[in-house]
Amino acid sequence: MVKTIYFIFISFSLTFSQNNFISASKCGECHQEIFEEWQSSMHARATSLKDPLFNGMYQLAIKETEGKLKSKCVVCHSPMSAVFHTISMEEEFNQEGITCQFCHSTTHINGYQSAKNMELELDTVYSDNPDPENSAHPSVHREFFNNSELCLPCHAIMKNPKDLEVCATGAEWKAYYETTRKNCQDCHMPIPNGNKSHLFAGTHQNDLLKNSVEMNLSHSDSLREFTITLTNIGAGHAIPTGTPLRMVMLKVFAYDSSGNILWENWKVNPIKEDKNGLFMKIMADAEGNGPVPPWRATQTIFERRLMPGEATVVNYQLPKGEIYDVEARLLYRFAPEMILERLGITDPHFLKSRIIVQKGMKIQSGKL
Ligand code: HEC
Ligand code: HEC
Ligand code: HEC
Ligand code: HEC
Ligand code: HEC
Repeated sequence: MVKTIYFIFISFSLTFSQNNFISASKCGECHQEIFEEWQSSMHARATSLKDPLFNGMYQLAIKETEGKLKSKCVVCHSPMSAVFHTISMEEEFNQEGITCQFCHSTTHINGYQSAKNMELELDTVYSDNPDPENSAHPSVHREFFNNSELCLPCHAIMKNPKDLEVCATGAEWKAYYETTRKNCQDCHMPIPNGNKSHLFAGTHQNDLLKNSVEMNLSHSDSLREFTITLTNIGAGHAIPTGTPLRMVMLKVFAYDSSGNILWENWKVNPIKEDKNGLFMKIMADAEGNGPVPPWRATQTIFERRLMPGEATVVNYQLPKGEIYDVEARLLYRFAPEMILERLGITDPHFLKSRIIVQKGMKIQSGKL
C-alpha cells in the first residue's frame, strides 16, 4: 500500500519534469510512416523557427504590444511550452511544435479556448484504440481521439483583447456537424495506406483546397449580367477559415475574339478594387483602416465567406463590346501581398495565389 502511494507520487511529479519529454523521432523509431507524414505537416512546422508567416506575425505582435503577447502565441504553436513552463525555443520540445507526445498524452479536455485546456499524462499513450494491448508502452483508450473534441482546444475560437472574434473554425464546424455528423478527422485524417494520415492536410498542401468549391456560370443577354454561383462543397467550415489573414477572391476576365482582355474585375488589389468578389474577414482599427493585425483591431469592417453547403451568388455587369469569352477563377492566398511584403516573406509558397476552381464560358453571339 505504502509502495503504491509512493509510486503514484513519483509519477505525478515526473509528469511535469522535462526528462519525461519523448521526441517525435523516438516515437518514429517504431511508427516510421506516421512520423514521416507528421514531419511534413503544419503541426510539425507550426513554430516560430519553421513557419515564416507565423514567425513574422509573432515578431510583429511582440514589437507592437511591448512583449505582452510573447507567451500567448506560443501556447498553441509550441504547446509543450505550457506543459514545461518555458517558451524558450532553445528547447527541443518547443522546436517540435504540435508533437506526437502532446496529442497522445491528452487524458482530459477541459475547454475549447487554448492548448492549456488539454490535460496531459506524459507516461501514457492515449488513443481511440478500444483495446490497446500489444503496444510497447502503456496505452489507454479515449473516445475523443475519434472526434473533433481533440482538435477544438486550439482550433475552436480565438478572441482579441477587445473581445472580437479573430477565428472561429469550431463554431462554423458545429453548425455543419448538426446535419452531417462529420468530424475534423473525417476530412483531415483520411486513411490512404492503413493508418490515419498524420499529414493533417489543409491549405498548405493543395489537395483539399482544390475543387472544394463548385462554380457555375451563367449570363443573361438582355441584362448584360454575368452570374457566378459558388458553393462550398468540400469544407466542414467556412472557406476561408482560421486566421483572418486568408483571402479567397474571384478574378473575372472578359476577352474579345483574339483573346485580348476587354475587362477584368480588379487589377492589383481586390480589397480596394472589388469587394463584390472577395471572401475574407477584415479587422480594422478605430478609424476604420484595415486589414490591421488582430491585436490592434477594434472592429470587423468586412466579413463574407463561403459557408458549407450554401450557394453564394456574385453578379457583374459586363461592359459593351464584342465579348467572346468570359473566364472566372476562384483564388486562395495565405495573406494579403502587402502584409507578406511588410514581413519580408519572399518564399513563393506564401506569395503565390492558388486556384481553387476555374471555368470559362463562350458567349455564342460574340455580342453582349
Ligand atoms: C519501441 C517501439 C515503440 C515506440 C518507441 C513507440 N511505440 Fe507506439 N506502439 C508500438 C507498438 C508495437 C504498438 C502496437 C501496434 C501498432 O499499433 O503499431 C503501438 C501502438 C501505438 C498507438 C496505437 C494505440 C495503441 O496504444 O495500441 C499509438 C497512438 C502510439 N503507439 C503512439 C506512440 C507515441 C505517441 C509514441 C512516442 C511518444 C510511441 N507510440 C512510441 C511501439 C512503439
Ligand atoms: C495544440 C494545438 C493543436 C491541436 C490539438 C490541433 N491543432 Fe491543428 N493546428 C494547430 C496550429 C497552431 C496550426 C497552424 C500551424 C501553422 O500554420 O503555423 C494547425 C494547423 C492545422 C491544419 C492546417 C494545415 C494546413 O496545411 O494549412 C489542419 C488541417 C489542422 N491543424 C487539423 C487539426 C486536426 C484535425 C486536429 C485534431 C485531430 C488538430 N489540428 C489539432 C494547432 C493544433
Ligand atoms: C467535410 C470535410 C471537412 C471537415 C469536416 C473539416 N474540414 Fe477543415 N478543411 C476542409 C477543406 C476542403 C479545407 C480547404 C478549404 C478551406 O480552407 O476551408 C479545409 C481547411 C482547413 C484548415 C486550413 C485553413 C487555412 O486557410 O489555413 C484548417 C485549419 C482546418 N480545415 C481545420 C479543421 C478543423 C479543426 C475541423 C473540425 C472542427 C475541420 N477542419 C473540419 C475540409 C474539412
Ligand atoms: C494533432 C494531434 C496528433 C498528433 C500531433 C499526432 N497524432 Fe497520432 N493520432 C491522432 C488521432 C486523432 C488519431 C486517430 C485516432 C486514433 O486512432 O487514435 C491518431 C492515431 C495514431 C496512431 C494509431 C494508428 C491509426 O491509424 O489509428 C498512432 C500509432 C499514432 N497516432 C502515432 C503518432 C505519432 C508517432 C505521432 C508523431 C510522429 C503522432 N501520432 C502525432 C492525433 C495526433
Ligand atoms: C488558441 C490557439 C492559438 C493561439 C493562442 C494562437 N494561434 Fe495562430 N494558429 C492557430 C491555429 C489552430 C492555426 C491554423 C489555422 C489556419 O490555418 O488558419 C493558426 C495559424 C496561424 C497563422 C497562419 C500560419 C501559416 O503558415 O499560414 C499565423 C500567422 C498565426 N497563427 C499567428 C498567431 C499569432 C501572432 C498568435 C499570437 C498573437 C497566435 N497565432 C496565437 C492557433 C493559435
